[in-house]
Amino acid sequence: MHIVHISVEMAPIPKVGGLGDVVTSLSRAIQDLNHTVDIILPNYDCLNLSNVKDFEFRKSYSWGGTEIKVWFGKVEGLSVYFLEPQNGLFSTGCIYGGKNDGERFGFFSHSALEFLLQSGSHPDIIHCHDWSSAPVAWLFKDHYVHYGLSQARVVFTIHNLEFGAPLIGKAMTYSDKATTVSHTYSKEVSGNPAIASHLYKFHGILNGIDPDMWDPYNDKFIPVLYTSENVVEGKRAAKQALQQRLGIKTADLPLLGIITRLTHQKGIHLIKHAIGRTLDRNGQVVLLGSAPDPRIQNDFVNLANQLHSSYGDRARLCLTYDEPLSHLIYAGADFILVPSIFEPCGLTQLTAMRYGSIPVVRKTGGLYDTVFDVDNDKERAEAQGLEPNGFSFDGADAGGVDYALNRAISAWYDGRDWFNSLCKRVMEQDWSWNRPALDYLELYHSARK
Ligand code: ADP
Ligand code: GLC
Repeated sequence: MHIVHISVEMAPIPKVGGLGDVVTSLSRAIQDLNHTVDIILPNYDCLNLSNVKDFEFRKSYSWGGTEIKVWFGKVEGLSVYFLEPQNGLFSTGCIYGGKNDGERFGFFSHSALEFLLQSGSHPDIIHCHDWSSAPVAWLFKDHYVHYGLSQARVVFTIHNLEFGAPLIGKAMTYSDKATTVSHTYSKEVSGNPAIASHLYKFHGILNGIDPDMWDPYNDKFIPVLYTSENVVEGKRAAKQALQQRLGIKTADLPLLGIITRLTHQKGIHLIKHAIGRTLDRNGQVVLLGSAPDPRIQNDFVNLANQLHSSYGDRARLCLTYDEPLSHLIYAGADFILVPSIFEPCGLTQLTAMRYGSIPVVRKTGGLYDTVFDVDNDKERAEAQGLEPNGFSFDGADAGGVDYALNRAISAWYDGRDWFNSLCKRVMEQDWSWNRPALDYLELYHSARK
């Protein structure tokens, strides 16, 4: 089968969040199963081209009153076409946040279909994502399906319904199949007006992570490579390196890591509460977070300064986006906290487990589907053929966080052998695309029937 993703993010070259991770890692998994996968991206002026191999100019075509240059390159082993309209729409120095994102991505969606048509491509599946490439679904059905792309089917994936619901609703109507990124989130949003009348073609397929891109046994950002066999040694070295790098005390204390966009979705008040609670219990905290909203950013800058003066040896808030540092935190932390108010899937809890860090999460969306509480979810885990793998809570208040976090920290202090065996166990669970890639292939096939 030939699958073309039309997307505005693809890790690592333009990655803002999990959408970028998923486009790359799902594509790699499907390509590994011997299918042909291409990705079409905007050629932003702020791309990190050092991660693109064999970058070359391919052709140009005219559409929408401008010339569009097409560049080609390999990213993480995938074929990527970069569209560069000469009207400057993608020369704004940012992925999102331009005043006219709707116009930019609408233009991109349309010009991507035009590129496929003009280059005589015959994909079986055109896969678009979120509000940003949602227009692909209706532009295709209005126009392109009647021309050279007639055999293609459109699959639309919702990564987050919070943004662009009207566009998402329209893509739900026009796509052949639609998915979202976990089973529980698909149920949570099933009553939404954008979705409710399309449930017959709507499926929850859990995201995976790429086991090669996130691999503690092959990771240039951590000091000692490790598998589940030497997880204790590997994580101890990573914790020390992290403590030294951030200038906190190199001591054997329970270390809580948080890696997140700082937005309402991610449970900001719960994050703040957890930082205080961990410090009260003589733990250490490392937060790596970037806030698109300057008010939230300022709020956290103030908190970072306060913590620096009161708990400088035990807390560090890094208010930036830093991929290499994220690897060291996944490896060096004992726990990764994800207290989201809602979470379509969430990748950080999965990556945490790959590095033997224990997830502490709020039970919502994909967090509910992937984290099974050691005290409360044994049966639910067993039904999935798994053993419990973390700590979780229900409410959206301080009491909920305390319930999960206190048990996690106590387990660290009081039962190190048990805790270490939990780290080993979570590392051995498979949260890769092995299973979900097959679900996508089945969906692609069913779209073509
Ligand atoms: P979302 O897409 O809603 O932000 P996900 O959990 O699906 O949430 O994906 C977030 C991805 O972005 C993960 O790969 C995580 O490691 C990464 N990430 C989030 N914040 C940062 C940051 N400040 N620096 C580096 N990586 C980050
Ligand atoms: C969105 C969601 C996140 C999901 C990611 C990838 O950004 O917020 O839960 O993991 O997309 O699908």
